[in-house]
Amino acid sequence: MISVQDAFRKFKSNLELTQGEQDDASRRQRQIREVMDEAFAIENDFLTGSYARWTKTKPLKDIDIFCVLKDEERHYRNEPSSVILADVEKVLVKKYGRDKVDTPVAFSVTVNFGVAVTDGKTDDKVMSFDVVPAFAKKDHFEVPNPQDSSGWTETNPRVHAEMAVAAHEAYSKEWKGLVRMMKAWNRQNDKPIEPSFLIEVMALQLLYGDFQGDFRYEMKAFFASLADRIHDRWPDPAGFGPDVSDGMSDSQKRTAQELLMYAEKSAAAAIQLEVQAKQGEALQGWRKLFGPLFPLS
Ligand SMILES: Nc1ncnc2c1ncn2[C@@H]1O[C@H](COP(=O)(O)OP(=O)(O)OP(=O)(O)O)[C@@H](O)[C@H]1O
Ligand SMILES: [Mg+2]
Repeated sequence: MISVQDAFRKFKSNLELTQGEQDDASRRQRQIREVMDEAFAIENDFLTGSYARWTKTKPLKDIDIFCVLKDEERHYRNEPSSVILADVEKVLVKKYGRDKVDTPVAFSVTVNFGVAVTDGKTDDKVMSFDVVPAFAKKDHFEVPNPQDSSGWTETNPRVHAEMAVAAHEAYSKEWKGLVRMMKAWNRQNDKPIEPSFLIEVMALQLLYGDFQGDFRYEMKAFFASLADRIHDRWPDPAGFGPDVSDGMSDSQKRTAQELLMYAEKSAAAAIQLEVQAKQGEALQGWRKLFGPLFPLS
């Protein structure tokens, strides 16, 4: 039987992007760019968010594509941001069909490609893209956000990427893997932490010092520190957008805290099962926390 440490290593690699997934993401990127070109004057487009930083969990969905608009589209910037989102929605519905496109909530319009998931796997296919119309502003961007009083949010994905790289380097190159695992827990538990970007923002502060070499204790401690600090204010680490912690109400934070504390207890119990030589039960315990991509063999 596989050891829990080896199972964690395998879990970590199960959450890494495969070449097939990256190829599929590039193919979808080109396709979406073509669709967007039909209706808008686009300066350039790029994949960003957690996908580009390697902090996205699996199965792979909601890859962010920024479509940076040319100056001639700037009239949209003087209208409510719901207008551009509605126009993006229209062009995507025309291509992909009404049932595949979600009504926009915040920055983006989501297109679902109708990909099936079996045991947490998608046969290297990307499930969905989040299409973000963006306006360049100096070295960063403004993106529509009808939930913000101004209607727009400033964001600097380059700074977020640099911070993730620095944190990863400082943590023996294990930081991104731990963030992906925590996002897997979040998804497995119906997303008590919302947005999941908040996990990454908190991890910038909570995972510091040295990686101790044991995933079991690292994750147990990570659950505990997230629970401890979930009620804190977590600003955009790049200093542009609204607080990332604004995505949750107090009652959502209380629920997340309870679930995180429960997860820490479950981690302790799984560690204890190993002490009692109940290897199989220990593996099952971790799988219950993280879902089907945590291997049992
Ligand atoms: N409050 C914010 N202020 C500034 N930028 C933000 C804010 N929230 C998100 N962003 C930027 O927008 C990107 C996309 O946001 P999103 O919510 O899709 O998160 P994500 O990092 O891609 O995580 P996920 O793994 O859930 O897809 C983030 O990666 C970040 O660069
Ligand atoms: Mg995203």
